[in-house]
Amino acid sequence: MPDSVLPEEERTQQDDRPDRAFYREPRLVQHVDAQFRERLTELYHQHLGAGDDVLDLMSSWVSHLPDDLDLGRVAGHGMNEEELATNERLTEYFVQDLNAKHMLPLEEATFDAVLCAVSVQYLQRPERVFAEVARVLRPGGVFVVSFSNRMFAQKAIRAWRTASGSGRLGLVEQYFAAVEDFRAPTTVSESPLVPPTQRFLGGPPDPFYAAYARTRK
Ligand SMILES: C[S@@+](CC[C@H](N)C(=O)[O-])C[C@H]1O[C@@H](n2cnc3c(N)ncnc32)[C@H](O)[C@@H]1O
Repeated sequence: MPDSVLPEEERTQQDDRPDRAFYREPRLVQHVDAQFRERLTELYHQHLGAGDDVLDLMSSWVSHLPDDLDLGRVAGHGMNEEELATNERLTEYFVQDLNAKHMLPLEEATFDAVLCAVSVQYLQRPERVFAEVARVLRPGGVFVVSFSNRMFAQKAIRAWRTASGSGRLGLVEQYFAAVEDFRAPTTVSESPLVPPTQRFLGGPPDPFYAAYARTRK
């Protein structure tokens, strides 16, 4: 059901200027720490297969895909062309503001996997975007959503900003449940241990959260 999960006020951003202005300049940086990124790559290894056609939704200059996995088509979507052009894993890419237009310019049932790394918090109409993801996935295809504590708070929706880690996982579970074509998601919630010698170097490590589900066959 479109728009069934969140009341309108929960979709608001603190900075309500169009997203394209916020993402105009490229950010060629890592948004999460190395431990998180390695865990995400491992999760992708578990759920992707050789030759899979993949869509990296809300992507940038990195896709966190395993180096040793030969994939088929790897389509990237994001907000900044320069970031996407720098991403060596992509075989193609397109720029689209999903808060302005949620329909993906992609044919139905054309991907084995769709990935959305550390970005779901920016979607104002997540139910519609998840429905689009189910449409472009082949039957039995997987959608992997991951996130941590970090975010551009001014662009995250209110429901996300005001939730805890487990509350955020609950939101993503509800986005999946709003789309009949998805099976029930599996969730992952992990807080990495910090060796005592590293406790005072930098901040705490980024916790790892993910939810993934396959479309019905
Ligand atoms: C924190 S970055 C994460 C990029 C990449 N997935 C990664 O793991 O480094 C957030 C990304 O969300 C995407 N994004 C944010 N707002 C968006 C919007 N309104 N429509 C489409 N994509 C958006 C942009 O591609 C942006 O690069």
